[in-house]
Amino acid sequence: MSIELKTPISDKTIEVGYGSRCDNIIMAIESSCDETACAIVKNGREVLANVVASQIKTHQEFGGVVPEVAAREHLEAINLVIKEGFEQAKITPNDVTAFASTVGPGLVGSLLVGLNAAKTLAITYDKPFIGINHLSAHICANYINTDLTPPFMSLLVSGGHTQIIIVRDYNDVEIIGETVDDATGEAYDKVARLLGLPYPGGVFLDKIAPNGNKNAYKLPIAKVDGYNFSFSGLKTAVLNLTKKLEKELGEIPKEDVAASFQECITKTLFDKVYKASKEYNINQIVLAGGVAANSEIRRKFFELKEQGYKVFAPEMRYCTDNAAMVGACAYFSPSKELSKLDIEVFSRCK
Ligand code: KG4
Ligand code: ZN
Repeated sequence: MSIELKTPISDKTIEVGYGSRCDNIIMAIESSCDETACAIVKNGREVLANVVASQIKTHQEFGGVVPEVAAREHLEAINLVIKEGFEQAKITPNDVTAFASTVGPGLVGSLLVGLNAAKTLAITYDKPFIGINHLSAHICANYINTDLTPPFMSLLVSGGHTQIIIVRDYNDVEIIGETVDDATGEAYDKVARLLGLPYPGGVFLDKIAPNGNKNAYKLPIAKVDGYNFSFSGLKTAVLNLTKKLEKELGEIPKEDVAASFQECITKTLFDKVYKASKEYNINQIVLAGGVAANSEIRRKFFELKEQGYKVFAPEMRYCTDNAAMVGACAYFSPSKELSKLDIEVFSRCK
């Protein structure tokens, strides 16, 4: 539902969010990890501009994200992506209803760059500021260019999180399960490193897995209570397997290991979400987060359509970190609490 926010200078009340009487043009910034992004989104579903400056090449040298380096790169890129955003959308800051940015969870130094840019714009142009939770934003990516409406069940799989969430209404969510150790993306990246693939590993593992035999090696599915997950045992099993294969064969059959790992992860995620969908009687499933770009996970969940389910996954460019999802979230799930001008960034889930 829409909320009322104050403008920073003249203290005017502005209605923002789903159900507003006026069109909402949100300029959104995302800088929680290694992407500096700016987007302009109309009424939560229509993307007028989407700019992403990726730092992947820089971090590849180190095999992972280096927080201090990431913050510095955000500083260099932020003004450029904002300028490009306004050029793409062919609007000026005066046309914007509100300025949004991710406030967490993420890397503190990185988040601060985007948050301060959005606040500065809000103060300069006397428009409300909207603070956004990165995980909600990933889910809201599914509203872009679709007619998705709650209730639905969401599987959020990213570099830092793995959760099953019931979205009863735009602002009424319940986490019913999550990982007790590694996140799905983290497991992908660690296994990819064992196979000698570059960062970010998930993307590269997904590329070679289709050439392998997914039944080549049987990997363990951890038994965890309820709708929770655990992936650290799987990572260790792959480590032991690769050591053994290297010893026996002199090299690792990368494609077969990648395919077997992907099969195990997909089955683990699918079985729990499927069971939860039956228990909670929800037949609309929504994938979210960077790992939602995975070809096998998408294929497996989209098969549910044959059973009468409605299945959604964001377009590829809206799966991994981007600002369009932040703009969609500012419209569908704005929070008064996160939108205070003195809000502080946070690194972990609240
Ligand atoms: O959502 P995201 O961009 O950042 C976080 O919020 O964490 O997710 C990044 C994660 C990385 O672990 C990356 O390896 C993984 O998403 N990822 C993939 C694929 N594309 C990105 N994992 C598996 N298959 C993919 N196609
Ligand atoms: Zn993310």
